[in-house]
Amino acid sequence: MSSGESHATAVAHPNIALVKYWGKAAVEDNLPAVGSLSITLGGLSTTTTVRFDPALEHDRFFLSGREDPTMGHRVSACLDRLRARLGSGLHAVIESENDFPTAAGLASSASGFAALVTAADAALRGNLPPEDRADLARQCSGSAARSVFGGFVELRLTPGGPRPTETSQLLPPEAWPLEVLVAVTSTGPKETGSTEGMLRTERTSPYYRAWVESSPADLAGARAAVVARDFEALAEISEASCLKMHGLMLSARPGLLYWNGTTLECLHRIRKLRRSGVPVFFTVDAGPQVKAVCLPEGVERVRAELAAVPGVLRILETGLGEGARVLR
Ligand code: PMV
Repeated sequence: MSSGESHATAVAHPNIALVKYWGKAAVEDNLPAVGSLSITLGGLSTTTTVRFDPALEHDRFFLSGREDPTMGHRVSACLDRLRARLGSGLHAVIESENDFPTAAGLASSASGFAALVTAADAALRGNLPPEDRADLARQCSGSAARSVFGGFVELRLTPGGPRPTETSQLLPPEAWPLEVLVAVTSTGPKETGSTEGMLRTERTSPYYRAWVESSPADLAGARAAVVARDFEALAEISEASCLKMHGLMLSARPGLLYWNGTTLECLHRIRKLRRSGVPVFFTVDAGPQVKAVCLPEGVERVRAELAAVPGVLRILETGLGEGARVLR
């Protein structure tokens, strides 16, 4: 360690979108084509320490104690944006840990980049407001902006504004304590990464324009449902947004098929549960895991039902949590 070294540690949680983001308006700046609305999952965490050191000539990234040069390129590119913003030329050692399986399809990039930007900003004494950290995190991973905030979060497109996207909290986690059960149906890496999948969809799907044009109405409906704490309305809009996104993915050429048979069976079971009065709905991202969102009184029934589906490997359970924050 040399003099002039400065460091900070931050924690952030993954989030899942209830109104989905899929598609980019501008690739260079990683600007999303649609807004999105999510919940931040408190039971799962990424903890990241960033040490800036004048003696370093380049950044080094370690995930769970092992150097990861591939991810290191994205991490370094993300730090470049922050360094440019804060006028720093220092390089860093970055150490990151996830307390949940990275292969569980739980958007570790969202919690990862939210924790990275928050720790690096603190280490450089940037004091950026969360809105700025969110917009920086968004440039590194679209969903990461949402993990800067806790509870119910919306990312809005704000062309012509001070920032091209604005991310903010709609409700704190304790205001409506939903529970999330994640049915893990495969631990393999995903077949097509989200950036490649989005670009292919935009290029080839005949439905892409309809997807973009119909997003603001979903966002308005979900926002109103969250503010009113209307579970039925949120369930209807969230499942519709999820199925619309997967319909869009399927309509790309070649089609993006992220589900397996177990995924589909879980969706049927969750729908059946809701029809029988259990307050639960599903959402699925660019992978085969199923996230069941429910009111606390539904947890036991949902857990039992999903555990009985052949092919469900494990179930993770979490409530909602806070946004990214500095630990030390
Ligand atoms: O943040 P990215 O680039 O990995 O994209 C996330 C895309 C989805 O998870 C499928 C949807 C979303 O809004 O999180």
